[in-house]
Amino acid sequence: MKYGHFDDLNKEYVITNYETPLPWINYLGSDSFFTLLSNTAGGYSFYKDAKLRRITRYRYNNLPLDQDGFHIYIKDKKTIWNPGWQPTRTKLDSYECHHGLGYSTITGSKNKIEVKQELFVPKNDNILLMRVTVKNNDKQKRELDLFSFIEFCLWDAQDDTTNFQRNYSTGEVEVVGSSIYHKTEYRERRNHYAVFFANKKVDSFDTSRDKFMGVYGSPAEPQAVKNGKCANSIAHGWQPVGAHHFHLDLNANESFDVIFGLAYVEVPFDKKFVKPNVINKEPAKQLISKYNTNKKFDEGLNNLKSFWNNLLSGFEVSTSNDKVNRMVNIWNAYQCMVTFNMSRSASYYESGIGRGMGFRDSCQDLLGFVHMIPERARERILDIAATQKEDGGAYHQYQPLTKKGNSDIGGGFNDDPLWLIACVDAYIRETGDWNILKVKVDFDNNHDVADTLLEHLRRSFNYTLNNLGPHRLPLIGRADWNDCLNLNCFSKYPGESFQITGPSEGPVAESVFIAGMFVKYGKAYANILEHLGLNEEAAASRKAVADMEKAVLKDGWDGEWFLRAYDAKGQRVGSKANDEGQIYIEPQGMCVMAGIGVESGEAQKALDSVKKRLETKYGIVILNPAYTSYRLNLGEISSYPPGYKENAGIFCHNNPWVVFAETVMGHGNRAFDLYKKTCPAFLEDISEIHRTEPYVYCQMVAGKDAPTFGEGKNSWLTGTAAWTFTVLTQGILGVQPDYDGLRIDPCIPASVKEYKINRLYRGTMYHITVSNPKGSQKGVKKILVDGKEVPLGVIPASRKKEVNVEIIM
Ligand code: GLC
Ligand code: GLC
Repeated sequence: MKYGHFDDLNKEYVITNYETPLPWINYLGSDSFFTLLSNTAGGYSFYKDAKLRRITRYRYNNLPLDQDGFHIYIKDKKTIWNPGWQPTRTKLDSYECHHGLGYSTITGSKNKIEVKQELFVPKNDNILLMRVTVKNNDKQKRELDLFSFIEFCLWDAQDDTTNFQRNYSTGEVEVVGSSIYHKTEYRERRNHYAVFFANKKVDSFDTSRDKFMGVYGSPAEPQAVKNGKCANSIAHGWQPVGAHHFHLDLNANESFDVIFGLAYVEVPFDKKFVKPNVINKEPAKQLISKYNTNKKFDEGLNNLKSFWNNLLSGFEVSTSNDKVNRMVNIWNAYQCMVTFNMSRSASYYESGIGRGMGFRDSCQDLLGFVHMIPERARERILDIAATQKEDGGAYHQYQPLTKKGNSDIGGGFNDDPLWLIACVDAYIRETGDWNILKVKVDFDNNHDVADTLLEHLRRSFNYTLNNLGPHRLPLIGRADWNDCLNLNCFSKYPGESFQITGPSEGPVAESVFIAGMFVKYGKAYANILEHLGLNEEAAASRKAVADMEKAVLKDGWDGEWFLRAYDAKGQRVGSKANDEGQIYIEPQGMCVMAGIGVESGEAQKALDSVKKRLETKYGIVILNPAYTSYRLNLGEISSYPPGYKENAGIFCHNNPWVVFAETVMGHGNRAFDLYKKTCPAFLEDISEIHRTEPYVYCQMVAGKDAPTFGEGKNSWLTGTAAWTFTVLTQGILGVQPDYDGLRIDPCIPASVKEYKINRLYRGTMYHITVSNPKGSQKGVKKILVDGKEVPLGVIPASRKKEVNVEIIM
C-alpha cells in the first residue's frame, strides 16, 4: 500500500494520506541551523548540536506520537483543526505534504478553508521560516482564528528533560510586538537567544505554556485556542513557549498570509544587554528584516532550490528505470547529505542527546558525499583525524560542537582507524588533492603532537599490525563494524554498556572482518605511498597485506564461507562448527570486495553461501541461524530477539558490500537484484509492511526470524546511504574515480541496453553514454573520448569544461 507518490520533476515526495505507518520526516537546514519535520508538522529545531543547543522541545517515545512541532491551529466556530492533522487529529477534507530538498509544504483543508504551511531553512542563516496562507474557498465571508505554537527547549536537551528542580525556575522571555524572545540563561553565561516572530501584528500572544495549553490541557485542545484568544502571558520559569494569534475575517475567495520565523541569535559578550535585563535585539531584527516579506521569503526558497539543483547536477543518471534514476539523482544523494550533517545524532530514532559523530560512521558517510562537496569533505577529514590517538587508535565518537574525542566511550573499536584510510583514499581519488596528506593534524586534539595526515594514515595502518592475535589476524578489541559483537565484554549485569564493559582490549579475540578491511584499504594505502614515491614503504605494506590475505585464507576460511571471528577463548564464531550464528554477512562482503579468494575460488563459494543461507526476499540477514539465547562470550548481538538488529536482522548497511562483491565477480544481474531488495523506492508499494519513509534507507529491516519480517526501523541516519550510493554509481553503473582520472567499468544486468550519466569530476562535466549491444554484464570493449578511440582503462582527468565519453561493452 502507498501513502503518497514520488514527484521526480519537482524532486519531492508527496504524501497524500496523513496516517503514515510512522511519522515520515524531512530535514530542513544544511549549514548550522537544522529542523526535523514530520509530515504532520511534528519535529524540532537546533543549532549545530542537537544536545547542547536545542531550540525547541521534542518528546521522544511520547503518546500520542509526534505531538511536538510547528503546528498551526485553526479555530472555525466550534471546530479546531490543524492543516497537518496533528495534534488535534480533526479529520481533514484534503491533505498533502510535499517533502522536498530542504523544504516541506503541508496543505490541509476543512469546511472550505484551505491552509498551507511552507517551511524551510534558508542557506547561510540560522532561521526556520514558515509561511502560512489561509484561503477562504467558500462563497461567503468566514470568521476564523489562527494560532501558531512552539515550545522552547532550555538549550541543553539532556538537562531540559531531567533537571526540573532547576529548570522550572529559570525560563525567561521578552516580547516586543509580534516577536517573542526566548532568553533563558542569557542573564548568566550564555550569549545566545531564540526569537519566534511573525511579520504581521498579532491580536494576542502567549509565552507561558500553562496559559496557552491550560495546566491540564493538551496539544489536541489548547485552552487559548478553545477561548479564541491568547492571554498575553509572560513566562517566568516553568515552560516558556511562543504562540501568536490572528483573528481573521475573510471574504469569499480572500486569502491571508503571515510569515513566521524561529531564529537562533548570538550576541558578542560585551554587547549582550542594552539596559539591565533588556537584551540586545539588534542582530535579531537584522535577521528578521531579511525574510519579512513574501518577496524575500520566495527568494530565499528559490535560492535553496537552486542550491540543491546545482549540487545534484554533478551526478545525473538517465536509465530506463525511474526508480534507479530517482534514487541516484535525488533521494539517495540527499540522504547522503543529511548523514553528512547529522552523522547519527538527531533523527526520529536518535534522540540528539546520545551519540555525537561516530569515527567510523563519519568516515563511511564521506564516501557518499565527497563528490558533492569536496571542500567540506576535506574539513571533515581533518576534524576526524584530529581526534585520532597517538598510537593510531581512535575515539569511537566525537562531539560536533567541540570536535573533541568523547572519553566516556573512548576507543578500542579496532576497525575504526582503517576507515580513515578509506575516506582519505576516496577523497584523493575524487579531487586529486594530494596536498591534503601534507597538512599537519593534531593527535587527540593536542597540537604539540600534530603530524601530517599521511602520518595519521601510517598509524592507522600500523595500528592493525601492532594489534594482531594468535592467528596473525587483527584483534577485535571492543567490537569491529558490528558494535554488538562484543567478544571481550562478558557482561552479566543489566545496564552495563556492552561496548565498554569488560577486559575490552583482549589479546585473543580476532576479527576476520577487520582482516578483510586491512586487505582492501591496505592496498589503497600502498597505492598512496607509491604515488608519493615512497616505494620501499609501499612494498613493505603490500607484503603486510599479502600476509594478511594468507592468514585469512588459512585461518579465516571455514570451508564454504569466511569465518567471522575467534572469540576470547580462541573458539570460532560464524562457523559451521557453531550451533547458531554459523555464517555472518560482513566478512563475505568485505573479503570479496578486498579481492580475497577471487582467483582461488573461495570468493565465489562465499557468495554462494550468502545466497543459500542469508538471502531473503527483503535482503540479506546479518547472520544465520539467529541466536536464540544470550551468550556471554558474544555480547550484545545475542541480546536482541531473533531477527532484530544485529541478531539476524537485515542490516541495510552491509547489503551493498555483497552487491559490490558481486560486481567484483562480474555478476551484473545478481548485483542489481540484490540492490533492489533493500532500495526504498522499490519498496514503496509495501509501505504498510516496511513502515519507514519510501524515499530513504533505514538502518535495519526485521529479518526472517522476526514476527515482523520486512518492517524497517531507524530511518535516515545510516551508513547505508553512502554505501548504496557508492555501489550503485561505482559498482553497478561503473563510474569510479581513480587517482589520475575516471575509470568506467559497469557491471549491469544483461538486459540493460544503454544509459547516460552526467558526472562532474574535478571541474569537468563528463557526458557518458554506456551501450551494451551484446547484452553483457561486465567488460568494456571500447572507449571513445570526444569521438576518438582511447586505450581501455582510466580516462585521464581533463582540463576541458565538458567531455563526451562513449563506453561500448
Ligand atoms: C550502527 C552504528 C555503526 C555500526 C552498526 C553495526 O549503525 O552507527 O557504527 O557499525 O550499527 O553495529
Ligand atoms: C546498539 C545498536 C547498534 C549501534 C550501537 C551504538 O548496540 O544495536 O546498532 O551501533 O548501539 O552504540
